[in-house]
Amino acid sequence: MNQKRRKIYETELRTTSLNQILLEKFLEPGCSVMDATAGNGHDSVFLLDKIIPGGILYAFDIQLSALERTKVQLEKLPHVDPKTSYHLICDSHGNLDQHLKEPVQAAVFNLGYLPGGDHSVTTNWDELHKALQLLTANWIIPGGIISIISYAGHPEGREEQKRLYQFVEGLPATQYNVHVTQIWNTIRSAPVSFIIQCL
Ligand SMILES: C[S@@+](CC[C@H](N)C(=O)[O-])C[C@H]1O[C@@H](n2cnc3c(N)ncnc32)[C@H](O)[C@@H]1O
Repeated sequence: MNQKRRKIYETELRTTSLNQILLEKFLEPGCSVMDATAGNGHDSVFLLDKIIPGGILYAFDIQLSALERTKVQLEKLPHVDPKTSYHLICDSHGNLDQHLKEPVQAAVFNLGYLPGGDHSVTTNWDELHKALQLLTANWIIPGGIISIISYAGHPEGREEQKRLYQFVEGLPATQYNVHVTQIWNTIRSAPVSFIIQCL
C-alpha cells in the first residue's frame, strides 16, 4: 500500500510555507521588501533570496539580539551581489515611514515573541496597527502583499488577533483582497494567516 503512495511535493504545507509559496509569486529580482519582525532571520533569508540581484530588504526588530541573529543568517546566503542591499533596523515596524526609502512589494509580519528568546518581548496591536495604516496608505506598491501570521496562544496575541480580524473586515473590497486561512484539523490553537493584497 505504502509503495503505491507517491510523494508529489517536498514542502509540508505549514502556515509559514503556505504564505511563502504565495509570496514567491509576487517577488522578483530587484524589488524592495520588508521583514517587519526579523527575529531569528528565517523570513529575511527567504525574502532576500527572492529579490537577488538588485533588491532591497528592510528588516525590523526592536531587539538588537534578533537583528544580530538575522545578520548571521543573511551573511550565509552565497549569492548576494553588490547591487543587492539589506538594512537591519532596530526600531518598531510602527515607525517604518522613518526608514523606508520607497514603497515595498511585500511586507511580512510573523507576530508574537522570539522563539528561544524573551517571551515578554512580543508584538502588540498599537505598533502593528500603526504599521498597517502606513503600509496600506502609502508604503505598499499597487498589487503588493502584506503577509501576517498571528498566534492567539498568549494574551497579547489574542488581543492582537481579535483586532486584526476587525481591521481586515474594515478594508474595502474595491481596494484590497483579504484572505484569512488556518490549519483546521488541529486541537491546538493554530496560527492564523492574514494575506492582504493592496490593489
Ligand atoms: C515570532 S518572532 C519573528 C520570527 C522571525 N520572522 C523569524 O523568521 O525568525 C517576533 C519578533 O518580533 C519582534 N518585535 C516585537 N515587537 C516589534 C515591533 N513593534 N517592531 C518590530 N519587531 C518587533 C520581536 O522582538 C521578535 O523578535
